[in-house]
Amino acid sequence: MKLNIAVLAGDGIGPEIIAEALKSVQAVCAKFNHELTYKEALVGACAIDATGNPYPEETHSLCMQSDAVLFGAIGSPFYDNNPSAKVRPEQGLLAMRKKLGLFANIRPVTTFPSLLHKSPLRSELIEGADFMCIRELTGGMYFGRPQGRSEDGDTAYDTCVYTREEIDRIVRLAYGYAQKRRKKLTVVDKANVLATSRLWRQVSQEISAEFPDVETEYMFVDNAAMRLVQWPKSFDVMVTENMFGDILTDEASVITGSLGMLPSASVGIHTSVFEPIHGSYPQAAGKNIANPLATILSAALMFEYAFDLKEEGKLIREAVAASMDAGVVTEDISEKGKAYSTSAVGDWVASYIKNK
Ligand code: IPM
Ligand code: MN
Repeated sequence: MKLNIAVLAGDGIGPEIIAEALKSVQAVCAKFNHELTYKEALVGACAIDATGNPYPEETHSLCMQSDAVLFGAIGSPFYDNNPSAKVRPEQGLLAMRKKLGLFANIRPVTTFPSLLHKSPLRSELIEGADFMCIRELTGGMYFGRPQGRSEDGDTAYDTCVYTREEIDRIVRLAYGYAQKRRKKLTVVDKANVLATSRLWRQVSQEISAEFPDVETEYMFVDNAAMRLVQWPKSFDVMVTENMFGDILTDEASVITGSLGMLPSASVGIHTSVFEPIHGSYPQAAGKNIANPLATILSAALMFEYAFDLKEEGKLIREAVAASMDAGVVTEDISEKGKAYSTSAVGDWVASYIKNK
């Protein structure tokens, strides 16, 4: 098969983790005889520096022409510390999501036997936890207008907007995943307070009638935040709006043991994007210490979701699990004094794939 992908490394540790993920992608392509071509493009702070635009038109057209996008991370302390900067790296990521129509962000959360003891949660609570968070990605407060400041600068506002159509398509997609899994869907909202959440609940209730084989549960977001750490095994598929999904999935990463382990797939209208859920971790940039596994696992999702190549994805996942069993991991999940570098982990995973 011909695989034509766009590679957007972005900022901070982005280039390092992407380089390691590409080693695994290349190893899998060699093993299964796929013809890989990839082109790189700028996004985020590095794109602002080079062009003034965090998501340049060139980058967008490359994404549109590709079969999948492998994405690193964006963000930089320079902008984090300058809240008044007009152009921001995050706008690049948001523009990409909007322009590619990526309305669903799928974040699978699983545990790894060799990492159970790394989670701050007791092993018996998390062992066997396996759920999927489906986050709406192109609506809500991230995109609602008006957004801004009053003239005197002392009042700021964001707007949360959702339409029936936006809710309908993501909830249906979530039911589709629930049907293929353990047939339970949790709709997370704040319907006791927010008008948008009440529309979410109304639309979900209407759709639920079409999926009698799936058990539907409605949960307020504050309760869901608690349940995630108290009883993570009670979840199968969770669907929620943009901001709630952003927050809950960072929380969910502690179940896995490290934020450096969670991959994601963003899907929708045009080319799908595969990216780790973590950020650009600027403190670690250039030090060869960041965990590349979330990005390598995102590449596994790319084979499965964008190309329907299940064996290839499975082999990457197996290689990642093997690296953890062998203790070849970065400092965030290693035993004291036994940390491997980013590139050593990436090399190990790629060579496992090669020699399999
Ligand atoms: C994520 C990130 C982004 C988001 C940031 C970098 C804009 O936190 O992908 O979860 O909030 O969506
Ligand atoms: Mn986030």
